[in-house]
Amino acid sequence: MIQSTMSPYYAYVAFALLCTSYACYYNYCSRRRNDLVRLTSLDDIEHLLSPPVSLTAQLQSRALANARLKPAFGIDSTFVNGDLAAHGAFTRFAINLISPRNLPWSRLADIAKGTVTVQLCDRGSIPFDTLVRRLVMYVILVGLLEEYVDESAIAVDDIDLVTGGINELWALSKTSTYRPDLLEEVNMRLRCWLPNMTNPMEIIIPTYETMWRVVAVATALGHDNTQAIPLFSALLQQPTTERYRQCTDDSFSADAFMQEVLRLYPPTRRISRVVPVTTSSILSRFCPRLFTRYITFAADVEALQCDSLWANSRREFDPSRHHLQRSTEQQRKTLLAFGTGKLTCVAKNWAPQAAAIMVAAILDQVGAEKDFALEPGKAIGGREGWEGWFVQRRL
Ligand code: HEM
Repeated sequence: MIQSTMSPYYAYVAFALLCTSYACYYNYCSRRRNDLVRLTSLDDIEHLLSPPVSLTAQLQSRALANARLKPAFGIDSTFVNGDLAAHGAFTRFAINLISPRNLPWSRLADIAKGTVTVQLCDRGSIPFDTLVRRLVMYVILVGLLEEYVDESAIAVDDIDLVTGGINELWALSKTSTYRPDLLEEVNMRLRCWLPNMTNPMEIIIPTYETMWRVVAVATALGHDNTQAIPLFSALLQQPTTERYRQCTDDSFSADAFMQEVLRLYPPTRRISRVVPVTTSSILSRFCPRLFTRYITFAADVEALQCDSLWANSRREFDPSRHHLQRSTEQQRKTLLAFGTGKLTCVAKNWAPQAAAIMVAAILDQVGAEKDFALEPGKAIGGREGWEGWFVQRRL
């Protein structure tokens, strides 16, 4: 008779080792297979961004997805931090900044007009993206953050360094290359402008980074649009929400124009979450952690907003499609430039109108029959890609 020489103790250890190795191998393989899952259908995206889990779990899942921004920008705000109290404090602060008590629309319009005038005076030509970046940064500093800013410390060269630096740091964060030297250069200026803020970058990122690109794209699309120009002109004279939303039967509103910009050129093209997924098997019941892998899901807002639901013309720029009588409820549900669910952008209603007023301030001085012309480049840009676009004084 053959007798086993292995005691039950060693058998358990061997079994446990086998399971662990299998789990590690399984996790390794699945991570490689599933680095990122891109979601493009409305149902999947709504489920990702509005899941039936606690707010804390949602914050943690966003923080994991945005982890690269933490070292890239030296921030610890709610976008990279899963803490519930930090979320409450940050969103309250942001909501307060955009309240009409803090910054009335008429004041925003005055600051925007004044900034464009100063940036264009005595100038023959200026790169278009430089003008837009200076305008948006200035409006945020002197308008939104008026209570905190030391206006006398703002020099135009520093604005260019900060806005260019933020662009570069963002691009580098996608490659996991960090530039602490550049971050320090940028932070040095921000601390001079906003001396009483602990970490000014934390509010500059959500306010500036998306806004300047919306203003740039909307101006590029609006400068030769004969239906849009009078709308923006009227909005600058009377920068109210009523005027912003007002539309005539044969035209569209400034709001529809901005909604179409955000539909075709969403500044946040993908909204990501890292979600734990546990495989159901007998082994995973004993040790679920070993069989749980963390998968990054990305809601592809850009793809969804160009869904076939928007008909064959879905890739064309047509603000009139947002007319209430022309769009369906299902189409409107796909407009997710500001996200959806509990973590929806707090500036969802404020940002498009604020951007439109800044566009109006540029078009007040740039365009047909104005002192300045917008010379277009090859294509509409994003964070990059504005080569060849210039604002030029007419001779
Ligand atoms: C056109 C401009 C803007 C766009 C496209 C935009 C987009 C977004 C998106 C997509 C989210 C959701 C992120 C997620 O679900 O993970 C978000 C969140 C947020 N945004 Fe914006 N945003 C814009 C402007 C602003 C401005 C001007 C502010 C500041 C007042 C702001 C403050 C915030 C805050 C505080 C959150 C976090 C909300 C929360 O966690 O509950 N955003 N934004």
